Amino acid sequence: MVIQEIPPAHEDWQAPDEQLWRVWSTVAAWHGHHLQWPAFDARVRVHLAVLRDELKALYGHRDDFERFLVKLLGVAFDAWSVRTNELKALDLQREAEPHWFESQKMLGGVCYVDLFAGTFKGIEAQIPYFKELGLTYLHLMPPFLCPEPHSDGGYAVSSYRKTKPALGKIADLRQLAKKLRKEGISLVLDFVFNHTSDEHEWARGALAGDPRYDDFFYIFPDREQPDAYERTLREIFPDEHPGAFSQLPDGRWVWTTFHSYQWDLNYSNPAVFSAMAGEMLSIANLGVEFLRMDAVAFIWKQMGTPCENLPQAHKLLRAYNALARIAAPSLMFKSEAIVHPDDVVSYISPTECQISYNPLQMALLWNSLATREVNLLQQALEHRHNLPEGTAWVNYVRSHDDIGWTFADEDAIHFGIKGFDHRQFLNRFYVNRFEGSFARGVPFQDNPQNGDCRISGTAASLCGLEQRDSFAVARILLMYGVALSSGGIPLIYLGDEVGALNDPTYIKDPGKAGDSRWVHRPARNELRYSQRHDLKTDAGRIHAGLHELIVLRKRLSVLQGGRLAAFWTHNRSVLGYLREKGSSRLLVLGNFSEVEQTVDATVFGAMPDSAIDLISTIPFNLRKGVRLQPYQMLWLEFRG
Ligand code: GLC
Ligand code: GLC
Repeated sequence: MVIQEIPPAHEDWQAPDEQLWRVWSTVAAWHGHHLQWPAFDARVRVHLAVLRDELKALYGHRDDFERFLVKLLGVAFDAWSVRTNELKALDLQREAEPHWFESQKMLGGVCYVDLFAGTFKGIEAQIPYFKELGLTYLHLMPPFLCPEPHSDGGYAVSSYRKTKPALGKIADLRQLAKKLRKEGISLVLDFVFNHTSDEHEWARGALAGDPRYDDFFYIFPDREQPDAYERTLREIFPDEHPGAFSQLPDGRWVWTTFHSYQWDLNYSNPAVFSAMAGEMLSIANLGVEFLRMDAVAFIWKQMGTPCENLPQAHKLLRAYNALARIAAPSLMFKSEAIVHPDDVVSYISPTECQISYNPLQMALLWNSLATREVNLLQQALEHRHNLPEGTAWVNYVRSHDDIGWTFADEDAIHFGIKGFDHRQFLNRFYVNRFEGSFARGVPFQDNPQNGDCRISGTAASLCGLEQRDSFAVARILLMYGVALSSGGIPLIYLGDEVGALNDPTYIKDPGKAGDSRWVHRPARNELRYSQRHDLKTDAGRIHAGLHELIVLRKRLSVLQGGRLAAFWTHNRSVLGYLREKGSSRLLVLGNFSEVEQTVDATVFGAMPDSAIDLISTIPFNLRKGVRLQPYQMLWLEFRG
């Protein structure tokens, strides 16, 4: 096709340059007659330049670049033209209120469909419970078709258009999204776009030598290139296979950052970008409001680099974001980058990922519990917490994944803490190889070659509930209390709110044995949920404490948004930060030790004389200093 020969579109538009004009007029000539065109067109005009610029940096050297762009917009238009009116109405609403997700009313929950409720219908039946808890955001772990028994919990996707049969049909998922939305709960699903499973038709095609899929994956005839790449790569799942490549039955080697059945997609091939754009928009059209962008750090590879956090990864994300603005405008991206804190924030912006896991806060919460010192967490809150406008952290205590100690060594050395040694200590502490530890975690991907290790465990087991430590409940509430008050969207791993413990029985399941993360992914425990209103039980105490904090949070407009000011308490075990909104202020203090702590009166010099703790409703005279019980958290509102 010769693009210039396409007649100009019916309507005039001052495109920023000729290339954009050519692309736009071609697309307009094809689709301009369509009823769905005008709203799409209006957004294309706004976002096309960004889309082109980001993609040009990746694929602009190719002769077929313009044709690729035209086809890509065709993919986007096709998705738009089948997007429901209901979702289009949501698009308009969200465009008008871009800060909606910064509300303190936001509360996230995450679970596996099968483990929590069996099927999509089962999840639907849990909506009253989600509302009771206060959820406005529900992340379901990947429900798409995947291999059996090994699928990395669904993170090896065989088709983005079909669900796992046991969970229900795609129509049930669409219905679920609708029902959730009606109840004020946004559905969150993963976009597992770094890799597909080896059973995806693209992978099968590539293996069989189908030329259409030749460059969809990184497949090499021998070890020459893999060896060269591996010189600068780190190992992610060394328990399963060393390095980053797996050998195919025919002797060739395929790039597999994670498991050998998860084949990394080759984004240097624009056809991969377009194909995945179609999959992304089809997931959006199910009614998904946040896409959790899985493994973002790994999506671009380049010889001689670690192949993590490369500048091109950001371009890919920004291009996908521009496409979402055009064809599914209410869709937001959540970054999953469990990497150095500088790299984590590099993915967060209104034009890339609007929200992101906060792995630094998560890891440092656990660090504070183990050391009874808040220095690293306090420093992170001061220097690494505040994000750009229009973005938010997702604050969590633990996820479905392992806990890795991803703090910055250069931050730690400030306190004389050596990163490597300290990580060794944390690992020992949390897997109960440290005398006096209350935690009952287990090692994950212990790599004796380089001393790397991460840990697994539920919040309750890591906080001491498993060994009936009398402070366990208070620890859990303190950890979640920080997630609920430090700014951003708090995310509860469902089960934690009733104190779910580790479940070692996963080793009997051939699909799970060998991956210790399953220890902290127990099935919904009916007994614990039935005890949630009984204060004589652990489940009841945890649930009541957490629920109180949730209700309080939703009521306090001062907790809206994400910004805080660190408040140094000059007590090594007491964390402090101030939240401000207009004229209201809230001072949060948390004691990370099992002994009573005092914060000296001098620290409150600039503050009013009195305050009331909104959690206990007890008043404090700040001129006398503040005493905190073991693991106590205070949300102090000033008086006078
Ligand atoms: C993400 C998921 C993790 C999975 C990996 C590979 O990090 O959170 O569970 O193993 O990606 O898809
Ligand atoms: C992914 C995995 C996580 C792993 C991390 C390593 O995020 O989900 O398990 O620790 O990569 O960077």
